[in-house]
Amino acid sequence: MTTATLVNHQVRLARRPETTATREHWNFTTEPVAEPSEGGVLVQTLSLSLDPAMRGWLNDAKSYIPPVAIGEVMRAGGVGRVISSQNPAFAVGDTVYGTLGVQEYALVPQDALKRVGLVKIDLRLGTVGQWLNVLGMPGMTGYFGLLDIGQPQPGQTVVVSAAAGAVGQTVGQLARIKGCRAVGIAGGPAKCDWVVKELGFDACIDYKAGPSAVREGLKQHCPNGVDVYFDNVGGEILDQVLARLARKARVIVCGAISQYNNANSMPGAGPRNYLSLLVNRARMEGMVVFDYADRFPQAIAELAGYLKDGRMQSKEDVVQGLDHFPETLNKLFAGGNFGKLVLQVAAA
Ligand SMILES: NC(=O)c1ccc[n+]([C@@H]2O[C@H](COP(=O)([O-])OP(=O)(O)OC[C@H]3O[C@@H](n4cnc5c(N)ncnc54)[C@H](OP(=O)(O)O)[C@@H]3O)[C@@H](O)[C@H]2O)c1
Repeated sequence: MTTATLVNHQVRLARRPETTATREHWNFTTEPVAEPSEGGVLVQTLSLSLDPAMRGWLNDAKSYIPPVAIGEVMRAGGVGRVISSQNPAFAVGDTVYGTLGVQEYALVPQDALKRVGLVKIDLRLGTVGQWLNVLGMPGMTGYFGLLDIGQPQPGQTVVVSAAAGAVGQTVGQLARIKGCRAVGIAGGPAKCDWVVKELGFDACIDYKAGPSAVREGLKQHCPNGVDVYFDNVGGEILDQVLARLARKARVIVCGAISQYNNANSMPGAGPRNYLSLLVNRARMEGMVVFDYADRFPQAIAELAGYLKDGRMQSKEDVVQGLDHFPETLNKLFAGGNFGKLVLQVAAA
């Protein structure tokens, strides 16, 4: 392929949103595609991972990663194909994962390879979608959050919120594989049915079913309390689960999506029922998936094995076209995605 005629369509941050990011917060730009210099690689984006964390990257606030700068191409992890290479570690045709950005082509100079985290991936282990889901960042989050921090023991009850989402589906299925009871919390009967009937969770609580749905559901499905709570949503649901903790419970603070669009970048009020930690000699611990990068290969091998032998399934919700990025991202905050949300930019 010659790059001479290629045009790169990109999505850049135009201004910072106070609450929900809408189309006016983005700029759609184009620029010619350049050849890589010595040691560099040119990657064509195939599919991008749309993640709740992206909303946090738009805030001018201190976090585990710097905010996206005004005018910068929006940060996004993605799978792509090498179309030109001046680096012996990457050949034309290789499929790669990295922080490619919301754009059709990522030119990665040699000194940016590490920052972009460009790695080759093997499509024999999973599809492009699965490499953004169970075998990708969400899967790694579920794996290390549950196993390292949650330390679930066979027979214990694991509860996970946003259960039909990317991280949640891995957590619940892995909990079952490790011999635990898995109870999901998700929005709506379709998602709840899917996690129970297709993924094999023991139960799922539809938190949209009424004001006392979570309280009643936890009482019914976790009669001996919650040993491990994998929290993806924060807010009121976290409070309800705290009130049902078992002795020595572990709460994994993975995310708080119910709070991300709050005005003024406020992460949301803390949990009211935190004294349950004292009463139950329990603990809460935050996690950031990138801390486990050295161990990703081991987790990928294990999870790929489960996909292959059928013990694990994965569901991706694929939307096509870079132009749809602003509205597609917002699906995450309204529960509009069913499974891992993927933006397909080019056919694999
Ligand atoms: N710490 C880390 O390293 C790390 C890494 C990856 C992800 N995360 C976090 O993990 C969480 C899940 O991420 P994901 O990529 O797997 O997203 P996801 O679950 O695929 O999508 C987000 C889901 O959150 C649910 N949701 C949205 N607003 C909600 C609300 N107000 N109350 C309850 N549920 C709500 C929706 O499902 P329903 O239809 O069920 O409401 C939505 O589909 C996020 O909080 C994310 O920030 C953390």
